Amino acid sequence: MTSLSLGVLVSGTGTNLQAILDAVERGRLDARVRVVVSNKPGVLALERARACGVKALTVSHKDYPTREAFDAALVAALRDHGVEWVVLAGFMRLLTRTMLDAFKDRIVNIHPSLLPAFPGVDAQQQALDYGVKVAGCTVHLVDEGADTGPILMQRAVPVLDTDDAAALRARILHEEHALLVETLQAIALGRLEVLAGDGSRRRARLGEE
Ligand code: GRF
Repeated sequence: MTSLSLGVLVSGTGTNLQAILDAVERGRLDARVRVVVSNKPGVLALERARACGVKALTVSHKDYPTREAFDAALVAALRDHGVEWVVLAGFMRLLTRTMLDAFKDRIVNIHPSLLPAFPGVDAQQQALDYGVKVAGCTVHLVDEGADTGPILMQRAVPVLDTDDAAALRARILHEEHALLVETLQAIALGRLEVLAGDGSRRRARLGEE
């Protein structure tokens, strides 16, 4: 088993970050969060990191002329802190090859839908608008698309007739926290295998222990 050296990228509230920090603290996740980087200053996620004694930085995308230049600054910050695996936990920017090549198949994202349904923003509202009866969350490897990379784990929740977006968001978010930790622990246990794919989609599996 390897202890994962994690860098967590955030843009907002950071409840998924908190789930990671709590799991590490309780010995349920064999990892160390080396640094938390936000593209927005002053967000709650940065405070959560500092409250746990974790280094927290802002790298604002607004300070860079291109997405590649912003990603190069992210790569530098993550490498400076010895990061080997990157978690996008509510990070609201698409990555370019600059980040993807620096951390090849070592960037995971959590998304609040059962992908490939409802990628992008407001996934919970998209699910309600469509009228699906089952929603959920997905942890996947990141590629250049919006929520398109190889799926690692998913968890479903029911959609109730009485749900509004806030109620569905809360039900999914609760599952996100457990799913993200479970996926990262499976990676720490060396169970991740990325399959080449037959000329089209690449897939991933988290084999049995
Ligand atoms: C989560 O729903 C996550 O799936 C999505 O953004 C939200 C972030 O929440 N990508 P938090 O910042 O972890 O509380």
